[in-house]
Amino acid sequence: MFSDPTKILFQFSLAHVDNRAVIDDPRFRFVDKNRVCHFFDEWSLEECRETDELPWLMLPNVYQRHRISSLTATFLCEKCAKHSDFLNGTETESTGVSFGDGGSVSSFHERMPKAELHLHIEGTLEPELMFDLASRNRVALPYKSPDEVRKAYEFSDLQSFLDIYYQGTRVLLRDRDFYDLTWAYLQKAHEQNVRHAEIFFDPQAHTERDVPIPAIIDGIHQALRDGEQRFGISSKLILSFLRHLSGEDAMRTLEAALPYRHAFAGVGLDSSECGHPPEKFTDVFARARDEGLFVVAHAGEEGPPDYVWQALDTLGASRIDHGVRSVEDPALVERLRSQRIPLTVCPLSNVKLRVFESIENHNLPQLLDAGLCVTINSDDPAYFGGYINENFQAVDEAFQLTLHQLRTLARNSFEACFMDESRRSRLLEELDTIFTAGGTLPIRCDPGPS
Ligand code: HPA
Ligand code: ZN
Repeated sequence: MFSDPTKILFQFSLAHVDNRAVIDDPRFRFVDKNRVCHFFDEWSLEECRETDELPWLMLPNVYQRHRISSLTATFLCEKCAKHSDFLNGTETESTGVSFGDGGSVSSFHERMPKAELHLHIEGTLEPELMFDLASRNRVALPYKSPDEVRKAYEFSDLQSFLDIYYQGTRVLLRDRDFYDLTWAYLQKAHEQNVRHAEIFFDPQAHTERDVPIPAIIDGIHQALRDGEQRFGISSKLILSFLRHLSGEDAMRTLEAALPYRHAFAGVGLDSSECGHPPEKFTDVFARARDEGLFVVAHAGEEGPPDYVWQALDTLGASRIDHGVRSVEDPALVERLRSQRIPLTVCPLSNVKLRVFESIENHNLPQLLDAGLCVTINSDDPAYFGGYINENFQAVDEAFQLTLHQLRTLARNSFEACFMDESRRSRLLEELDTIFTAGGTLPIRCDPGPS
């Protein structure tokens, strides 16, 4: 009966529901003798009675073959339409997996501990903070209000976004500004159960406005230290080079930053991809590797698979940011798969920047099916409509991800990050407890309007 290890069947009593039952969670399906009878947004009790069996509630795609010890679900009685009944699951076998509290249970992806590995700190500048900093620093903005800023965030491609993104950075002038920006992100990350963050900053976007490198790095670094103390979020800072500028400019930037080497751990490559291949930056990445910095690079977002090869073989990248166009080259997919080279995928970004027409057209399922070490990230959340959980939510809704897939995405984030092994093991264990004894899986049991 429990032949499929990715499904849980749960038998429960319907004794005190006497009419149609409606449950408001698309993850649930009813099955009749192991056969799925409906997806249920709506389910008729009479139909199930006809089977002369207690129906099975199937919680699709739960990772482990646990039988559930208890379940409380809230049903809306359509007949009276006013009240909801609580149904208590019959205990079939003790497993320790407990479900839900019948009420304010958040989604699984919200509860999962996770790492954010592709986040540009300048891309977390919310319009309200942009206005605060503009007034603090007396910088004129071409917008009248935060709402007007948000309305301007319609992009046709990467470049159209970058033009606005660099304009936004003009309000960042002093270490305190970088501190406030980073602190605001960390609060959000904490709310979303981010346990570890690897964060890009673009020094050249600031030094070209004569902001001194120590002001940038000190402000961000201090906030990251405070975030670790206050929220327990570990982090790594990644100095990212702007690829539309020259390799020499990147080298000068690295040299100027090296006196603050203690504050950053890696280097990256971002900005306008097309026409700026990774090989332009061979020397500066070699220098960074000599300094013991880890190497990542944006590639295969708008640019061709060849840029991903170059990032790996010429720059020595151990992780690729975006990389979604890798699927166009089967040999590249095999390389990424066999060497477990992670891709930091940013679904909402990809839709906003028209890499994919819609979230439903995103190739995340293809990347997962290919066995790649894919992670979900937010890129520039203030510009793209959401932080890491909103990214998870978007793909979860679009693809009805299985809990196994969600778990894999969170596991991948801890596998793909740069952290010491003892912390990695602890975080993986914490993730595992959600699926095993004593953990809690979420069930949204919104009874609907009463
Ligand atoms: N791609 C390239 N450069 C960037 C991005 C991005 O998504 N966000 C900020 N700089
Ligand atoms: Zn990015």
